[in-house]
Amino acid sequence: MFETLTAAPPDSILGLSEAFNRDPNPRKINLSVGVYQDAEGRTPVLRCVKAAEQRLLEGEATKTYLGIDGLPDYRRHVQKLVFEGAIGAERVAVVQTPGGTGALRVAADFLADLLPAAKLWHSNPTWANHPAIFAAAGLDVETYPYLNSQRTGLDFEAMLDALQSGPRSGDVVLLHACCHNPTGVDPSEEQWRQIADVLASRGLLPLVDFAYQGFGEGLSEDARGLQLLLEKCDEVLVASSFSKNFGLYSERVGALSLVARDSDQAAVGMSQLKRIVRTNYSNPPRHGGAVVATVLDDAELTELWHQELAEMRERIADMRSAFVEAMRTHAPDRDFSFLLDQKGMFSFSGLNPMQVDRLKSEHSVYIVGSGRINVAGITRANLQPLCEAVAAVL
Ligand SMILES: Cc1ncc(COP(=O)(O)O)c(C=O)c1O
Repeated sequence: MFETLTAAPPDSILGLSEAFNRDPNPRKINLSVGVYQDAEGRTPVLRCVKAAEQRLLEGEATKTYLGIDGLPDYRRHVQKLVFEGAIGAERVAVVQTPGGTGALRVAADFLADLLPAAKLWHSNPTWANHPAIFAAAGLDVETYPYLNSQRTGLDFEAMLDALQSGPRSGDVVLLHACCHNPTGVDPSEEQWRQIADVLASRGLLPLVDFAYQGFGEGLSEDARGLQLLLEKCDEVLVASSFSKNFGLYSERVGALSLVARDSDQAAVGMSQLKRIVRTNYSNPPRHGGAVVATVLDDAELTELWHQELAEMRERIADMRSAFVEAMRTHAPDRDFSFLLDQKGMFSFSGLNPMQVDRLKSEHSVYIVGSGRINVAGITRANLQPLCEAVAAVL
């Protein structure tokens, strides 16, 4: 039977990393893949994670299954961290999921199964996996505009107009809580307020993807948009992840939170989420959730995590400014200062697909075709050759 199958296309971003690994150029630079890298270009295990793992190694008493919804302590911490007391815990149903991707897929299955008339609206552009995840669950997927014509900042008027006229009551609007991937362009507080007004008045359900809490301005600051939504919208879904802010990429630690009008509706929502999880991966992996819960249960380890998260955030911000500054010398006619307003690991460089292609073929600099760069991949060592290469293709 398998001889009738045709090959699926490779993943666009992971395919670039494979090409990077094959490239023999010793000066090659990879700014494509979405992981944090330190000043030496490594993706380290956080010290708070190592300490928690040491404790788990000594104290862990069982590897038996977790409940369908995951580790209770972990779920309690997710609720505190993501919602920061903005709403009562009794209105939130949290399930631990395999990463943020797992949370998005559980949300997609939930919507496709229980609200089948709903369309899913996402920003154009968005993380490439978003439309694929929702389409795979059988949802109709539509887009709303996001960037201005120079692709350097938000076209808020166009975004709001589209949300006002496109989706119908009962549709779902996917928003990035902070550090928009791939652009790094986030709405301001005032803009979040207006988005919340439109969603609430038009009966649209916000689905908030919160993959980078703490990478923008801080844990609380990055939750501000979500809080403003919660002031107006009684029902919200949030897909969150500890892949980036705890560096737990391969442990697959995420959560889907369903905010309902009251505790009864939250309980019904939870029963449906559990049914969906049971027929998918049955129950989540223990280790990553136990690491997060161990850190957040301990004041000293939590303090260490805050420090390490701040180090990551500050390094990214430093590299962003260093790149803009260095480009002033290398390409004085081209202004890259718009990058300074962008937040998080990614930025839209404004480079076009031809320039991106030349960066790869002539300079062994790998960035995504849209012009997205992973700012965390820039180091003091590769800054100079990177800027020379960008200047050469402009
Ligand atoms: C916007 C966005 N959402 C979700 C995810 C999924 O993260 P995870 O690795 O936790 O599945 C990512 C990861 O790159 C992302 O960029």
